[in-house]
Amino acid sequence: MYRTHTCGELRTQHTGTEVKLAGWVQTVRKFGSITFVDLRDRYGITQLVFDEQLNTRLGEEPLGREFVIQVTGKVLERSNKNAKIPTGDVEISVADFTVMNSAATPPFTIEEDTDGGDELRMKYRYLDLRRPPLKKNIELRYRVNRSVRNYLDTQGFWDIETPFLIRSTPEGARDFVVPSRMNEGQFYALPQSPQTFKQLLMVSGYDRYYQVVKCFRDEDLRADRQPEFTQIDCEMSFVEQEDILNTFEGLFKHVFKDVKGVEITEAFPRMTFDDAMWHYGNDKPDIRFEMKIQNAKSKNEVNCASLSGAGFKVFDDAETILMICAPGCSEYSRKQTDELTEWVKRPQIGMTGVVYIKCNADGTYKSSVDKFYNEEKLKEIAGFCGAKAGDLILILAGVETRTRKAMSELRLEMGNRLGLRDHAVYKPLWVIDFPLFELDEENNRWVARHHPFTSPKPEHIEWMNDLSKYGDIKANAYDIVLNGTEIGGGSIRIFRRELQEKMFAALGMSKEEAQDKFGFLMGAFEYGAPPHGGIAFGFDRLCALLGGQESIRDFIAFPKNNSGRDVMLDAPSSIDDVQKKELGLPLTPNIS
Ligand code: AMO
Repeated sequence: MYRTHTCGELRTQHTGTEVKLAGWVQTVRKFGSITFVDLRDRYGITQLVFDEQLNTRLGEEPLGREFVIQVTGKVLERSNKNAKIPTGDVEISVADFTVMNSAATPPFTIEEDTDGGDELRMKYRYLDLRRPPLKKNIELRYRVNRSVRNYLDTQGFWDIETPFLIRSTPEGARDFVVPSRMNEGQFYALPQSPQTFKQLLMVSGYDRYYQVVKCFRDEDLRADRQPEFTQIDCEMSFVEQEDILNTFEGLFKHVFKDVKGVEITEAFPRMTFDDAMWHYGNDKPDIRFEMKIQNAKSKNEVNCASLSGAGFKVFDDAETILMICAPGCSEYSRKQTDELTEWVKRPQIGMTGVVYIKCNADGTYKSSVDKFYNEEKLKEIAGFCGAKAGDLILILAGVETRTRKAMSELRLEMGNRLGLRDHAVYKPLWVIDFPLFELDEENNRWVARHHPFTSPKPEHIEWMNDLSKYGDIKANAYDIVLNGTEIGGGSIRIFRRELQEKMFAALGMSKEEAQDKFGFLMGAFEYGAPPHGGIAFGFDRLCALLGGQESIRDFIAFPKNNSGRDVMLDAPSSIDDVQKKELGLPLTPNIS
């Protein structure tokens, strides 16, 4: 037997017990003839005391950081208790020890805070995973997984696996492809999601499906994106949108209570896509704080009369003028407003500047455009914004899309600066009534906003015959948003062949192409497909949010870096010519 207890288990009630522990050496501290060692495992840390006798042996066989050792000894109550750790009331008086494995000096400190940089920690991920913050995240991930599975089981969902070597599923990203040896010149695609399979399972009559499943998307990476990530993927038959929202609101409430001890009793708010864009400038509003966008002018329609006729060209020429009112910021210094100007000028934001109006505590107004707007006008604008004395109004003007996006970012930035985005506060909401299509401006064509299996609102189906109406067609699609992050999205699906064909045609696909790519699904619809719908949650994102962090990387045991590389494995990597030949791939040119 390697151990009788773990390193997180012993308490005063064990005093006097003979125990055997095994684990990693966290620290070695010598005090004269006595040596203290902190022994660590997944469960915690226990202090070991090596007395004079053993100290001689330690001199010959010194223990180093991260050595794996086994000790036998007696549990003693500590005179000098450590309230910071659960085992802090006891220590082990070591009778004997065995070094089970030595360890090279770790490339960074394996402690709560480390001195290792990102890339180094990724390279030695197995060491980084020993650190308490990462261990906590991985445990949280496991608990969320468990909790989700328990809830879905009580709701009658079956966990059914679907293949990874498939044909492309259109979820909007590029596919990762795998060459086929047995079918030379042909490729599998790795699923961007199990979308079509879960729909087929509904055709098979399985009624309620889920899977905690890997998805693969070759897209540009960000803090909340990984090339392979995990979804909690779900589908249900004979349901309407309302059934789905209720079922999965239940899932969230269950997980929050189970994992975080947070009881959410009220229904999640629902907001239409149009309202989200109008008031928050994006489709994933962070509703932990107000600071809603005031639409002073939108697509050339002036809603705040006091802006007009002042001769300020920036406003007069702008398609859109948006304002936010930052509470209590009227005393921003010149340095602070200059800093905000620089912030909006960054390429990611892309604005030429920001106009401000200070609503001073004494009832006066001061702005960066005093030349054009007298105090009375400024007061009217402040009234339009609902600004109070002490507030700072920030105004962006320009073309609609960019200005709205920039204002959405500025709102979040001000929320950060004012400490209004507290990680411990959870504000979920549903965003509903998404557009069915969106214009791909680069290629000037309409694409599916969600995916091509999403059904249009029945009353908008006829607009699919009129290209000029495409932008107005709404879908039975919904997203769940938590603290400004989209953590899930889904829709009620098309389940009849005719409508699915119409959808593919609307997306500019020829009948032949649609048949070639999705004939299997449309064929299945001819054999009795039930009405169905579903949703998928970004499991990594959900875990990061529940862990109070923005980056999903530290909630994944072995993630990729920002260039999509696994720096530990050094993947992707080249393959040799033998393998290439087998796969029918071009060989490396011989340069010599
Ligand atoms: P969607 O594409 O919206 O829907 O994906 C669902 C959720 O998955 C998460 N997500 C990601 N997480 C980490 N890294 C990524 N690269 C990444 N991409 C997406 C997001 C997102 O909300 N088949 C549909 C679902 C359905 O219609 O049922 C789908 O995949 O949190």
